[in-house]
Parts: sequence; C-alpha cells; structure tokens
Amino acid sequence: MDKQKNENFKQAWDSSYDNGDNNLRYPSEEVVRCFYKSVKSRMNHESGEKLSVLDFGCGAGRNSLIFDSNDYDVIGYDISTSAINMASKNYPDHFFTANEKEFMSRKYHLAIADSSLDSMPWLDAVTSVTNIYSTLHKNGFFILSLIESDSKQKEYNGMNDILIKDDFEKNTMQIYFDWVRIERLLLPMFEIVSAYKVVHKDSNEDLLFSRWYLSCRAN
Ligand SMILES: C[S@@+](CC[C@H](N)C(=O)[O-])C[C@H]1O[C@@H](n2cnc3c(N)ncnc32)[C@H](O)[C@@H]1O
Repeated sequence: MDKQKNENFKQAWDSSYDNGDNNLRYPSEEVVRCFYKSVKSRMNHESGEKLSVLDFGCGAGRNSLIFDSNDYDVIGYDISTSAINMASKNYPDHFFTANEKEFMSRKYHLAIADSSLDSMPWLDAVTSVTNIYSTLHKNGFFILSLIESDSKQKEYNGMNDILIKDDFEKNTMQIYFDWVRIERLLLPMFEIVSAYKVVHKDSNEDLLFSRWYLSCRAN
C-alpha cells in the first residue's frame, strides 16, 4: 500500500477515535446473527482446541464481546493506534494490535471485517481481503459487512468512492458496494455461504442506508 496515503488515513482515523466518533461498546447484532446462524456449526476443529478469530479493522473492539475468551483467541487489528488503545483498555481479555505483520504472522479459523473494508480505498480493500484469505486456515470462515451503493448520499453525486467531508469520520474514505463489486472483492477466494441486506429507513420511509452481511468460506 502507498505509505504516505496510508499514513494520512491512519491520522484521519486516529482523530476520529480521539473525537469519540466510534467508541461503541456493544457488538453488532448482525455479526452475532451471521456467526450463530451460518458459521459456528460449520467450523471444524479438534475438540478442546481454542478457535482463533481475527477482527480486521476492529475499531474500539466491540465485536470481541461475541467471543468468550475461554473458547476463542481473538486478535483485533486496526490501522488506528487510538482505536487499538481503546480496544485494549475496553477488553483486556483479548489482544489488539496496529501492527500488520503481527496479525499476518498467525492463522485463524474465522475472520470478521465489520464496516471496515468499506472504510478504505478500493485497492486497499482488495489487498486486505487477499491478506485475510492468506491468514485463514483451509476452509476457514469470513464474516463481513459492506455498505450498499443505494446508500449514497445526494451531496456526493452518486460517486462510488468518497472522501468524507462531514465532521463524523472526517477525511476517511467510504466506498460503496453493489453485488458486482462484492463478487469482485470476494471471488474466487471465497464461497459466499449466506448474504442478506439490512435496510434502514426513517419514519417517512426514506432510505437512510443499507448494509450487506455476508458469511463466506475460504476455498
Ligand atoms: C467504521 S469503523 C468500524 C470499526 C469496527 N469494525 C466496528 O464495527 O465498530 C472502520 C474501521 O476500519 C479501520 N480501517 C480503515 N482502513 C484500514 C486499513 N487499511 N487496515 C485496517 N483497518 C482499517 C478504521 O481505523 C476503523 O477502525
């Protein structure tokens, strides 16, 4: 990845966390649903063996709450050191790092990437998915969420990839996904086991945003 560009996004995410934008303390209900409905019963492992989980782009670490540290070794990785500091403080039973080499040096039974692969430039998302694939055990699982292109706000003229100008997550990148782009991101490395879209509307039935939740198995 381009070092300077990466450093700019790292700084933008650090500022965002320092401003308190994303210090969520509850796990994503939909990631819980994907894990229990589509993945958990399919995971193969030796009895008594702890399952290893990578939370890619973990932010303040909220999704580590899904996994009991007696049964799972969770590693959260994020580009933002501010996020990693928060996560380490919030969830001391789990391990968090901003060091890419550290997360890449291990193997996982499951990776999750909740709202993270759509929070970076497209080429970084492609590289990140390739990295995630290479760290998964054979037939390992991958749960991810991606914001759908119909969520594009009018002020951005329907562009697919935008640099956020609002105060919330300012100067970070948001990229949008239709089904073609989802397949370009995941195939042929992964088989998509389940996919559904959650649509959020306001009380006037106007679309706020919608988000895909995907459960995949590594080929
Ligand atoms: C919208 S937040 C989601 C955080 C967390 N997954 C959650 O659901 O609360 C997007 C996260 O992606 C991280 N991120 C952005 N680019 C990244 C990259 N190239 N590598 C790793 N993490 C990245 C950001 O630092 C941020 O924590």
